[in-house]
Amino acid sequence: MTKYTKSKTSLIIGRWQPWHEGHRGLFEAALERAEKVAIGVRHTYATDGKNPFTFDEVKEFIDKDLSEKFSGKYDVIELPNITNVIYGRDVGYKVEKISLGEDIEKISATEVRKSMNLTPVSHSVEVSERSKRFGHEGGIIWFTGLSGSGKSTLAKALERKLFDKGYNVYMLDADNIRDGLNSNLGFSNEDRNENIRRVGEVAALFANAGFIVLSAFISPFNSDRKKALNAHPKNFHEIYLSADINVCEGRDIKGLYKKARAGEIKEFTGIDSPYEVPKSPSLEIDTENLTVDQSIDELFSFILNKIPLK
Ligand code: ADX
Repeated sequence: MTKYTKSKTSLIIGRWQPWHEGHRGLFEAALERAEKVAIGVRHTYATDGKNPFTFDEVKEFIDKDLSEKFSGKYDVIELPNITNVIYGRDVGYKVEKISLGEDIEKISATEVRKSMNLTPVSHSVEVSERSKRFGHEGGIIWFTGLSGSGKSTLAKALERKLFDKGYNVYMLDADNIRDGLNSNLGFSNEDRNENIRRVGEVAALFANAGFIVLSAFISPFNSDRKKALNAHPKNFHEIYLSADINVCEGRDIKGLYKKARAGEIKEFTGIDSPYEVPKSPSLEIDTENLTVDQSIDELFSFILNKIPLK
């Protein structure tokens, strides 16, 4: 966390669902008391109608409001769901309640959400009712790895196996999704962000509907995979298919590495576009050394253990 400095910093903690003018007033008051402000976002996000926004969306709202005028003066940080602040004697900081006046204090996030025309509707069928009918909970098996690491092959074989064993399962595969829902996206970093954001949301819908989703996307960035996790944290498992780029390139099933080396395809993952290896995946499958059958066996026992059939 090198970006945090020793500058004197005020901390403000909230849900910021969404960030509004009143919050900005609080921020400005906090900044008057220090050199910087740490804006802590409590981990309640994307859970219900009162907390519809994800951490990244909250951060986006804040940046939109503050980045131009207050660049370098604040950090937005993820916090656990802080419900108590406890301090002892002489802890070296002051805890202060700031009153901003009636006009500002009456701004309510609920009203702001309404004015954004967001009135989340709850379902009449509970998630638990769905899983009772399906015989298992919904979940997301999120494959990640280089092109040619085996994502589609394993997702496809696993879809068959899980279905035959009684799971409701649906594969979301990159080339299919990019042919339809995401046909307006390319391979710049921004487009990959958006690709994975949408896929994460779609996977969350399927998982909410009770399905086991098998998503097969390179999903090269840690932050995007985290966003997908945040969209549906329950039963989300990141599976890293670890195959060295030389092995993937050797396979070159779609002939794309050859084209990328020849400069016919730009921004190709692993060649001129980055791939961030997951820091702590739920499971790593070494597709260099395991056969498809061995990998499927390992994946199947993993899923049976994590998301059992009732
Ligand atoms: S991601 O980076 O946004 O997650 P995604 O998994 O959807 O990528 O798409 C990868 C698939 O698109 C590859 O399997 C390959 O068939 C195709 N593709 C075409 N161009 C590229 C590229 N420049 N980089 C990676 N994959 C590409």
